Order: sequence, then C-alpha cells, then structure tokens
Amino acid sequence: MGAPVFAPDRFWFGGDYNPEQWPRSRWAEDVELMRRAKVNAATVGVFSWAALEPEEGRYEFGWLDDVIELLHNGGIGVVLATPTASPPPWFTLAHPDALPVDADGTHKWHGSRDTYCPSAPAYRDASRRIARALADRYGAHPALRAWHVHNEYGTMCWCDHVAAAFRTWLQRRYGSLDALNEAWYTAFWSQRYGSWEQVLPPRSTQYLHNPTHAVDFRRFMSDELLDCLREQRAEILAAGSTAPVTTNFMLPTWNHLEQWAWSDELDIVSIDHYLDTTGPDGETHVAYGSDLTRSWAGGQPWLLMEQSASSISSEGRTAFKDPNRMLRNSLSYIARGSQGSMFFQWRASAAGSEAWHGALVPHAGADSAGFRGACELGATLEAIAEVAAPPADGQVLDADVAILWHADGWWALENRSLPSDGLDYSAAVRDAHRQLWQTGTAVDFVRPGADLSGYKLVLVPSMAPLDDAAVRALTDYVEGGGQLAVWYFSGVTDEHLHVTLGGYPGRLRDLLGVRVEHFAPLAPAETVGLSDGSTGTQWSELVHLEGATSLATYREGPLAGHPALTAVRRGAGTAYYLSTRLDVASAARFMAYLTTQANVRPVLGQTPPAGVEAVRRRGAQHDYLFVLNHSARTVRAQGAGHDLLGDRDTSTGVLIGPGGYLVVREHGHRPAWTIDTTEPEGDPADG
Ligand code: GAL
Repeated sequence: MGAPVFAPDRFWFGGDYNPEQWPRSRWAEDVELMRRAKVNAATVGVFSWAALEPEEGRYEFGWLDDVIELLHNGGIGVVLATPTASPPPWFTLAHPDALPVDADGTHKWHGSRDTYCPSAPAYRDASRRIARALADRYGAHPALRAWHVHNEYGTMCWCDHVAAAFRTWLQRRYGSLDALNEAWYTAFWSQRYGSWEQVLPPRSTQYLHNPTHAVDFRRFMSDELLDCLREQRAEILAAGSTAPVTTNFMLPTWNHLEQWAWSDELDIVSIDHYLDTTGPDGETHVAYGSDLTRSWAGGQPWLLMEQSASSISSEGRTAFKDPNRMLRNSLSYIARGSQGSMFFQWRASAAGSEAWHGALVPHAGADSAGFRGACELGATLEAIAEVAAPPADGQVLDADVAILWHADGWWALENRSLPSDGLDYSAAVRDAHRQLWQTGTAVDFVRPGADLSGYKLVLVPSMAPLDDAAVRALTDYVEGGGQLAVWYFSGVTDEHLHVTLGGYPGRLRDLLGVRVEHFAPLAPAETVGLSDGSTGTQWSELVHLEGATSLATYREGPLAGHPALTAVRRGAGTAYYLSTRLDVASAARFMAYLTTQANVRPVLGQTPPAGVEAVRRRGAQHDYLFVLNHSARTVRAQGAGHDLLGDRDTSTGVLIGPGGYLVVREHGHRPAWTIDTTEPEGDPADG
C-alpha cells in the first residue's frame, strides 16, 4: 500500500448516524449522549441520497450542514459517506435502464437499497455528481475524518450494460476471441464464440455454467465495482479534499470483491463484521475477520467500520448481544490492529427494514444495559488510547504463520459439478485459522505470489486455481527453508481452471513429491481411519509417493495402505500434504505437529487456557498484551507490565474473571507470561 499508515491520535468510536430519520429536536440529544459515551466519530450520509438530492440536480445540504456543525461543536469527527448504495426513486424512474437485472432476467425495482446496476452510465454519472457535490462542500471541513465511499460494494447485475462492460474487460484480459475460447475451453458443449457480441454474462441457463466463464464474471464484477470506487475517489481528490478514503468491506457471507486489489487503492482498509453465531465460535470469527483485514492492509492498522452493538442475528432470531461481549469483541478487533470500534448504528431506527437491529442507543433509550455498555467502551478506549500509535514500520502484529488467501479460490469452489459438494473454500480457510486461534498462535493471510520468506509456516487450504507466480512463490519459499502444508484440491488447475494433467495436485505435484491418481470423496457422514489414529472426513484420494514419505496411511476402505499424510524435503524446507479433511481432534493434533516442526510458538510461548485469548499488538514505544477471558472461569495472568485499565502492576499476577479483559503495556521486550486457571482464594471477579 502506498498510503501513509493509518495512525489516528485515538481509537475511533461511534457508528452510523442517520439523523435524517429523526426530527431535528433529537439531534442535540444525540450529540449530548455521544459526548456522554465519549463517541468521537459519526458516520453520516450512508443512505442519505434522497435527502441530499431530492430531485435530479437539486441539492439540499442545509440539514447536513447543521448536523456536521452540531457534531463538530460537540468535538465529534465525521466519517462522511457518499450515498451511492441507495439511489432514490426519482433516479429509477428517470433511468429505468440503471436498475439491476437478475441472472434470470428479472428486473429489480426500488423499494429497498442497492437497486442499481454498477455498469449503467446513468448510475455512474449520478454517483460521480453526488460525490463531487459532497466533496466540494465538505472536503475541507475541519470535522471531516475520512471519506466512506458507498457502502459494502457488492451489487451484482446481469443486464446489457453489464454485458458490454464484461466484453470490454474480457478483450483487455484475453486480447483475442481465440484466446478467450481457449481459456474458457469452449470446445466443450459447443460453446465456441464467433464474435464478441455473442459473449454474455453467465445468465440463467439450461444446465451447468461454464466454470471459467462464471469465475471470470466474478473477477470482472470486482474490477467493475472497483472502477465505481475509483471514479468517486477521483471526484473527491479533484475537489481538493485530502481526507483519507475508505470503503467498508463485508464479511463473511459476501465474497464479491477481490480484496487484495481493492486494499491497494484504499487509504484505510475497513470492514463490517457481524458475529455469525451466538455460540463461542463467534470469538474465533472476530479474530478471523480481523486477521484477514489487517493482512489486506499489508499488516498495517485498519478500521472496524461496523459491528452490531447489541444484537446477533443468527439461527433465525435476533439475540441480545451482551454488552460485555461487545466490549471483549471490540478489544479483540483492536488487539489485531483495528484503530477503533464503530457500529451499525448509533440509534435504533423507529421503523423500517432494520428497526429490530441492535444499536448503541436502543429503543429503550439511554437507560439501558446497551447504552451503559457503550459508555464503558468509550471510557475503555480512552484509557488505552496510547495503544493506537503504530510502530515505525507500521506492522502491528508479529505472526510466524501465514494462510494463503484469494477470492479466486472461493469463486472456483462455488461452481457446481465439482467432485464433492463438501468442497468449501472459506470453511477450509476458517478451519485452519480456528485451529491456530485455539492454540493462541498469531496468523497472517498472504496473497498468492507474495514473498513468503518472513514466515516459518505457510498453509494452503484447498486453493484450487494457482497461477505460475503463485507456484513459484511457494516453491521458492520451501527451497529457501520454509515449512509448507497443502490441503487436497489445491493447485489442481491453472488460473483458467484448466486441470493440470498427469496426476493431481498438478501444479504442486513436484513440490509436494506426490502424484494423486484419482479422488475418492467420502459421503457426508462417512469417515476413514488413518494409521496414526487420526480420522479423515469428506475427502480421500489415491496418493502415490514420488519423493515424499508417508506420515500416515489410510487404514481402511479401498485406499487402505496408501499414503494419506505426507512430507518431503525440498531444498532447505519441507512440504506437507494432507489428502483428507481431518476431523476436529485430528486436525488439532496435526496442526500441533506442524507448528512444532516449524518451531512456531503461541504468542505467550504456551497455549492459554481454553476460551482465553492472548494477542500482542505492537505499538510505537511498547508492545501491548490483550488478554480476553471468554471463558466462564477466573484466570490468573502474570507478567511484567502495567494494566492500563486497572492502573496496576501485573508482575505479581492479576485475576481476570469470567468475561474479563486486560490490556497491558509490557515492560521490556517480550516478557515471560503465565496464564492459568488456578482458582484463587478471595474475590474472583477482579479485572
Ligand atoms: C451492514 C450494512 C448496514 C446495516 C447492517 C445491519 O452490512 O452496512 O447498513 O444494514 O449491515 O446488520
């Protein structure tokens, strides 16, 4: 990233503020409550297009002038959004061709949000105009902290505007129709294209789509949306505004963007992150989202733009999110490099589609556990403000392990007609990350083709397409002394999804020293025992050794006696191969084996007690240790440092009760820590 390191003087705390939903009489109260909670950043304008431009070309900025002034006078910074995620009804009627069209040809209408086609010229023009008008008016306002362009880019469309833009993109990518025909393998099923006009987006069709066509469309859409962002950013810059530009990515269910390319263009990489479960796995998800985002940001600080203050939507209900959990989650994002904790939204809407969503000020008002939690978070973030200053090199975390990540891997496995419906890229990546979280080990994600030499261990979970640069980078890494672990169905194709012939995993066969003759996916509930006592699930395959040695063989079934887990020395390093999906216990054992082989240690040297998270964030002058006790037991932490929240020394040990947390300015470089569950005498609810 070319942008300067995102280093605000304190953590940003606040969230989406939608004053246009409320009478003016509320606004002063909002600012008063924000001050009480120590909110210092409000995101305004996200869905304000109709209020800002009630008719084409007629702007009403007066209300926003007043809101920004009120916030500014209250000492609250403004993250100003461009409202382009929700064009107003007048726009639809004036430009019906700019409405989105489904893959099956269904036209969508206004009445919700995101009702636009990203390739429609009228939408692009209108977006540029409103972005420019906002930038002209507010670009130099002293309250302006950042530009929040659009909201969660990801709207897909299959209309004729998109078809035209897709063709242009394909012409750039392939140069000629012959090259496209070859890349898409159109000899299959008589799909050969004789002119560019014949090429369409992958609209609904009779049977299976061409997988390369489908993945190229995802790649194109990501690039097309990125062009939308670039155009708005150009307007902001042309207006002379120097405030940093961001747009909020969305996790985990949206995979519409190729985040590495997007992050290269942003001054602040930010995400919206919502817990996907009320259960304890929510905490591993927070870590996962955070580690991904920091990695996209090149290891530098980033921003949590939205989380839910007081609700978790999962399993068919909107559960109450305990304020204590909200606090712990906020600290977990921050421990992993976020420069703040922002929320959707400040005040719960009185009506509308998201009326039942949590907020910092719930329907009950300020006399509520939710708002008291918000106040506690505000005070907490002030108390740990010094942590926000990043180290000189901008790298906020040290990690010895990296997981290969790319949207291509996810898109490729979304195609139907794969050898198993159980192939799930994001689940495979998440599994690997979760196993490391459970041992308290710091993790980065890396982009295919990146220099990996700084890592002791690199993991490649089921990344089917790999291009030459990615294969070379993995090979160089191992030959240079790295430890690499590759899961089945990685490197089986090139970037065009063409299978590498001669045996799987084609592109990595030489590096791994194995040749897979055929796959043997398991039925959903089927398992297979391995000779080392492990259990495989979901997948197996007939592996021949071609230089590698077997660490474990299949013990039963048609593959009995054949290798299941292998290792090979290559140059100064070692490459491991897993030909099955190990069950949870076996996977944890194998990960422990890999980390031992690679000499990777948990953050604290040893694995903390179950449910306790320990993360070290690097700062300008010191390192900071975050200890988050997600468990129901009191733990005791001891190490040289100063507890910023309790204002006490930690060298003789402090107790952290269930749900408690600690943020410690460490004394010296990497002091020794012990964290144990010894239930001490006295009051356990310390911390
Ligand atoms: C986010 C979105 C917000 C709001 C929120 C509800 O993804 O950006 O506008 O819809 O979800 O959870």
